[in-house]
Amino acid sequence: MFTLIETKPVASNHYLLTLHTDNTQSAPGQFINIKANATTDPLIRRPFSIFDHDGSTLTIVVRVVGRGTRLIVNLEPGAIDCIGPFGKGFSIVTGKKALLVGGGVGNAPLYYLAKKLVAAQCQLTYIYGARFESDIFMLDSYQELSHTLIVTTDDGSYGIKGNPVDAAKESVEKNEFDIVYTCGPEIMMKRLSQELSNLPIEASLERYFGCGIGLCSGCAVATKEGYKRACVDGPVFDAHTVLWDTP
Ligand SMILES: Cc1cc2nc3c(=O)[nH]c(=O)nc-3n(C[C@H](O)[C@H](O)[C@H](O)COP(=O)(O)OP(=O)(O)OC[C@H]3O[C@@H](n4cnc5c(N)ncnc54)[C@H](O)[C@@H]3O)c2cc1C
Ligand code: FES
Repeated sequence: MFTLIETKPVASNHYLLTLHTDNTQSAPGQFINIKANATTDPLIRRPFSIFDHDGSTLTIVVRVVGRGTRLIVNLEPGAIDCIGPFGKGFSIVTGKKALLVGGGVGNAPLYYLAKKLVAAQCQLTYIYGARFESDIFMLDSYQELSHTLIVTTDDGSYGIKGNPVDAAKESVEKNEFDIVYTCGPEIMMKRLSQELSNLPIEASLERYFGCGIGLCSGCAVATKEGYKRACVDGPVFDAHTVLWDTP
């Protein structure tokens, strides 16, 4: 059972939702599935990655893009129709040097991951990509966990003007990393896996979810091992097994 405690803006069009849950277990990269309202419009639940989870408090960051997300950020505190956590999350390595590369709201699941990696004695370089300064949420929280934090914006309004893949390439030329984790626009993750082909990369993929529980195959991801379902076999995949150009 989930209860919505509060909703607060954290960036332009981005909201942090704090939920109370009976479920104290989850893994970074897993998602919860929210029904936007009690009617049949919209019918389908909307998936959101866990931003943080500590005991009975679970948070998500919601970027408003359409009707479902608009309804969700306007829900009143109280009971909320939400199920999960679901899916296969990121693997947690111990005592390694990790590069985390986030794009836009894809930075959300990487915060929870970063917390777990730091607790497992990893040293983190975090590349936070955003389109504009106004899209950046809770940067201080990322700073606290990172040995090195690099921010890129498409328009140069904050940090380095450019994209997070170029910043990642530069970082890899200067440092040795054991593993890379990424979440963001598919084009970003595809390029990252091409540019950093020598490093293990775990990528969290976005798909339209129908059922969200493995029944409809609406969330297919083409991989070298055949089609997988993002909602149960992912959303986190080995980036080098994903066939990025196959629909
Ligand atoms: C595993 C997973 C984790 C996610 N985590 C987060 C998160 O942490 N925070 C967050 O804000 N969003 C997250 N999303 C995306 C979020 O689920 C969608 O933005 C939401 O379902 C859109 O609902 P809507 O009714 O507002 O938009 P709609 O009205 O359905 O669509 C509005 C616009 O958004 C696009 N869109 C909607 N859903 C998707 C999608 N799944 N993939 C690509 N484009 C889409 C549509 O093409 C359209 O242009 C995640 C999605 C997945 C699959
Ligand atoms: S959304 Fe139905 S199988 Fe994944």
